[in-house]
Amino acid sequence: MKFFIDTANLEQIKEAQDLGVLDGVTTNPSLMAKEGITGEENILNHYKAICDIVDGDVSAEVISTNYEEMIKEGEALAKLDDKIVVKVPMIKDGVKAIKYFSTKGIKTNCTLVFSAGQALLAAKAGATYVSPFIGRLDDISTDGLALIDEIRLIYDNYAFDTQILAASVRHSAHILNCAKIGADVMTGPLAAILALLKHPLTDSGLAQFLSDHEKASKK
Ligand code: G3P
Repeated sequence: MKFFIDTANLEQIKEAQDLGVLDGVTTNPSLMAKEGITGEENILNHYKAICDIVDGDVSAEVISTNYEEMIKEGEALAKLDDKIVVKVPMIKDGVKAIKYFSTKGIKTNCTLVFSAGQALLAAKAGATYVSPFIGRLDDISTDGLALIDEIRLIYDNYAFDTQILAASVRHSAHILNCAKIGADVMTGPLAAILALLKHPLTDSGLAQFLSDHEKASKK
């Protein structure tokens, strides 16, 4: 399972990269705005800065919702670095744009996916990744993980190459459950990744080992 971090914060991206388990980064316009990155040039420079830190795919989202504009924007993003994956919303023009990018060898991430039908369409169009938003489905009292399960079944039935990128991951249980179901990738916040480290028996066991060592070395 690949681990992506879902942020545009360079410090957090560096921390995850230093941990040695990072396979990529996803961003979106809200995450870029959260870091105060505005204006076309600053946005492009920020994507370049992210690409310089990580050894994997970096999703950069188009703002346009019209086919021609998406193509222009996506091609400019893809030129920034080989790591760039053009993130495209699941709308009619988005599906057409994904098809275009796939014929040009430009990697894509189809975002804002909330149903298996949308995921099927994204795979048919040749998306590299499809991003079902599991946390947002849970937020409206539906089952985000059930959607991952459905997409896994459909993609396996037809051996689609599109990778399931579980997005809107909120906590470590989401990560574990996605791993059990067979999501290819998960993207989540640094806190959810770091929470996988934690177990109270690890902490108490380590404290005991260190104190026994200390006592023994004083004898
Ligand atoms: O990048 C898309 C997705 O991961 C957003 O997550 O937490 O805003 O629902 P969230």
